[in-house]
Amino acid sequence: MTRHFLRDDDLSPQEQATVLELAAEMKAARFAYRPLEGPRSVAVFFDKVSLRTRLSFEAGIAELGGQPIIVDTQATHFGRGESLSDAGKVVSRYVAAMVFRTTGDERLTDLASGVSVPVVNALTDGFHPCQLLADLQTIRERFGSTTNRKLAYVGDAANNMAHSYLLAGATAGMHVRVAGPSGFDPSPAVVSRAAEIAAWTGGSVEVMRDPFEAADGVDVLATDTWTSMGQESDGKDRLTPFRPYQINEKLLAAAASEAIVLHCLPAHRGEEITDEVMDGPQSAVFDQAENRLHAQKALLAWLLAVNAE
Ligand code: CP
Ligand code: NVA
Repeated sequence: MTRHFLRDDDLSPQEQATVLELAAEMKAARFAYRPLEGPRSVAVFFDKVSLRTRLSFEAGIAELGGQPIIVDTQATHFGRGESLSDAGKVVSRYVAAMVFRTTGDERLTDLASGVSVPVVNALTDGFHPCQLLADLQTIRERFGSTTNRKLAYVGDAANNMAHSYLLAGATAGMHVRVAGPSGFDPSPAVVSRAAEIAAWTGGSVEVMRDPFEAADGVDVLATDTWTSMGQESDGKDRLTPFRPYQINEKLLAAAASEAIVLHCLPAHRGEEITDEVMDGPQSAVFDQAENRLHAQKALLAWLLAVNAE
């Protein structure tokens, strides 16, 4: 069975730790690892726009000695009826790995079905697991370890980042709180899977309404846009229900005094996060963005190695 990275819980706690240790080594010795030397190619497909994911994969694949092939899928047959399963089987004959940013998670699993090269989730409507590897790397850098650290994610608790914080945070042994307004709750299936993982790792998961209760004493305070890609014209009023969940100096004051603030970016300054917090001393958002590069390089190297065994 080919090992893929389609959701955060595709890595066991031990495997996640191994990837994060490799990410730290790759950051310290940036150009020392070249498992894609040849070069071997990696195809990176985008159904949705991107800045960080696109450039960090393109630079990272090149740094690993490989050839990135970046594809905006509207220039392909993806959007006009070619089966993604057929497309995956074709492209896997050309490349060492595939990376895909798309809408529904079933599009990603279709691409990955029956292929013998690893497939990586570069963001779906359900999850953003590469982002979480970067977030966890940042937390390890600041606190030495993730074990027993408390993290609160406030805002859209129904989106991909909320789901990935639940699964990846539980895998990392963290105490994860997710708080959002009524109508924007996480998937019950994801919450129960995260609780199951937390029971093995010594972490915990809690879903709550009150952002101040969530932020109380945490080491990491995280948020994301209130309007994810594809939701721009769904007709829902988001500003009114989400306003109490803004990360501002008052909410940050409820966290631990050494707390760091994370945001996967792009930020909508003045909505989910204020300028004062984004640009303040507790913000780790640019280290977090940098770590996309190192964490994804480590993930690709690890996936290529385990699939070669
Ligand atoms: N955080 C993140 O995935 O950013 P992009 O949408 O720019 O890739
Ligand atoms: N939740 C956001 C994350 C962007 C990186 C989105 O899906 O648009």
